[in-house]
Amino acid sequence: MKTQTIIATVLCLAHSQSVLAATDQLVLEDATVGFKTPKHVAVVGAGSAGSSTAYFLRKYSQERGISLNITVYERDGHIGGRSTTVGVYGDEQNPVELGASIFVEVNHNLVDAAKEFNLSTSGIRELRSKGPVLGVWNGRDFVYIQSAGGSWWDTAKLFWKYGLAPLKTVNLMKATVGKFLKMYEEPYFPWKSLSQVAYDLGLTAATASTGEQFLEQNGIGKLFAQDIVQASTRVNYAQNLPLLHGLEAMVCMATDGAQAIDGGNWQIFSNMLSAAQATVHLNRTVSRLAKLNNNKYSISTKKQGSKTEALDQQIFDEVVLAGPLQYSDIDFDPKPRHLPDSIPYVQLHVTLFTSKHALSPRAFNLSSEKLVPQVVLTTLPPGEHHGSSPEGVGLPGFFSISLLRPSMDTREGRGELEYLYKVFSPAPLNDTFLANILGLAEKATIDKEDISWQYRKVWNSYPYEYPRVTFEELQLDEGLWYTAGIESFISTMETSSLMGKNIARLMVDGWES
Ligand SMILES: Cc1cc2nc3c(=O)[nH]c(=O)nc-3n(C[C@H](O)[C@H](O)[C@H](O)COP(=O)(O)OP(=O)(O)OC[C@H]3O[C@@H](n4cnc5c(N)ncnc54)[C@H](O)[C@@H]3O)c2cc1C
Ligand SMILES: *[C@@H]1O[C@H](CO)[C@@H](O)[C@H](O)[C@H]1NC(C)=O
Ligand SMILES: *[C@@H]1O[C@H](CO)[C@@H](O)[C@H](O)[C@H]1NC(C)=O
Ligand SMILES: *[C@@H]1O[C@H](CO)[C@@H](O)[C@H](O)[C@H]1NC(C)=O
Ligand SMILES: *[C@@H]1O[C@H](CO)[C@@H](O)[C@H](O)[C@H]1NC(C)=O
Ligand SMILES: *[C@@H]1O[C@H](CO)[C@@H](O)[C@H](O)[C@H]1NC(C)=O
Repeated sequence: MKTQTIIATVLCLAHSQSVLAATDQLVLEDATVGFKTPKHVAVVGAGSAGSSTAYFLRKYSQERGISLNITVYERDGHIGGRSTTVGVYGDEQNPVELGASIFVEVNHNLVDAAKEFNLSTSGIRELRSKGPVLGVWNGRDFVYIQSAGGSWWDTAKLFWKYGLAPLKTVNLMKATVGKFLKMYEEPYFPWKSLSQVAYDLGLTAATASTGEQFLEQNGIGKLFAQDIVQASTRVNYAQNLPLLHGLEAMVCMATDGAQAIDGGNWQIFSNMLSAAQATVHLNRTVSRLAKLNNNKYSISTKKQGSKTEALDQQIFDEVVLAGPLQYSDIDFDPKPRHLPDSIPYVQLHVTLFTSKHALSPRAFNLSSEKLVPQVVLTTLPPGEHHGSSPEGVGLPGFFSISLLRPSMDTREGRGELEYLYKVFSPAPLNDTFLANILGLAEKATIDKEDISWQYRKVWNSYPYEYPRVTFEELQLDEGLWYTAGIESFISTMETSSLMGKNIARLMVDGWES
């Protein structure tokens, strides 16, 4: 017995010594920290992808007893990236989403995180008991109107007009989402190549075709595609069906359990970073990334907006670039083995404003006693297939107008009940446009009486989702990872989070082998 124990101990020692020799990193340290030098990881970007990377890195490394030190650099002054809010009337107690606003029940990472962090969620609210909730406007007529109390699908009218197309679309969407959800599970998860996993799951059939082709191949009628599916691709991606691929078109139809975090979706990501015990530097831009001879990385950062070069430098074992590289302004030395392609992104104009005026029925070719739908989606009129410029918007001139909620302006003695609106468009909204939709067409200029507050933002919101069958590498070099390639596949908060989780798992697996 005794000899066996001794032999086991010796073997064990020998083994750990060979590990020491092989990696040259496992030095004994302060016993309270653990026996190994922690892995130092830098994450560039505190959006969904970066926060999720940090969160899952902590989780996986804890499970395996690996000690870890995470540093997150974020150029903006806030956590969340394209998930961010602004205060209506400039009041931070009254936030409204400026970027990503909705996730759905099959978005497991976000739904689970909201539960774990006790964040309360709300579904889409119907603000009025009367009048239509949603309409699809083609610049001449409403081609589809849904009244209060009805659900998107649940109307006889829909079937009367479109036959079996709505059912077929739901079935196609469910089958496609079912394949996508396998990306979360073994044996597919974690995937080293997005191109490969998309191919293995049969999803390239959807990404290889335009949305228009994909629907047609699956026997879904043109009218339904144009009126309903395209209204959804336009509000979600500012793109028409002959352009964006079939997978992204299906994502637009997966609307069950649509929800948002009360007070702002960015709170998911802020909680993830806290749970990750990450050191988060806001207002800090990564300006330079150098690979050193020992295969570690040196990161130079500067305060956002400052002219002075490198503020400081730190050394990391591995680095995760968690946002579109083409907008990151990082100098590489040397260039990584693989450098992601620059791809066209949609430039989306988001206009938030408050007004005492309701949307004008006349502007939407309705008789004056009618109410304009709470949410006006758009599609192209018959004969306009790709949409005239700018950016395929076509006759309607905008992608969507949503009445978000009633709003009370309490600034400086005002106490008026107003409406809060959000408009998506490919160009800035001018006074002529605003006056028209608010029924003030005879007015030359819009003043504070008509629009009491407004906020405008131009986003590089998402890529043009052209059909494709290969996707960016997730590993750009040894110890250098990239999340944003997934945006050409599906661009959502959830998919960025999934990519972060996937990369976290690949990194931690790599440390163990
Ligand atoms: C108007 C709009 C509406 C949308 N609607 C939805 C929706 O309803 N539902 C949905 O799921 N998705 C929606 N999206 C898409 C969604 O926002 C994105 O897919 C997702 O948030 C991307 O997350 P990310 O972490 O990959 O990138 P980002 O959120 O862009 O995060 C990248 C971060 O990296 C930082 N960064 C970049 N370079 C550097 C640097 N050099 N140094 C330091 N930091 C740097 C950036 O400041 C940024 O914060 C919408 C997007 C927009 C713009
Ligand atoms: C992480 O590393 C940084 C830089 O080396 C150090 O300043 C910080 O104290 C470390 N944090 C933890 C929790 O070990
Ligand atoms: C980031 O910068 C902005 C603008 O300069 C500033 O208002 C904000 O306080 C800064 N935030 C942090 C956390 O440093
Ligand atoms: C979440 O809320 C529940 C019930 O309100 C509470 O018991 C729990 O401690 C909360 N968890 C966190 C992480 O705040
Ligand atoms: C208004 O709608 C009618 C049909 O409902 C259509 O014939 C007409 O062209 C539309 N008018 C405008 C200005 O688009
Ligand atoms: C205002 O915008 C509309 C489209 O949104 C455009 O057709 C019109 O030419 C613009 N008017 C002016 C004065 O710029």
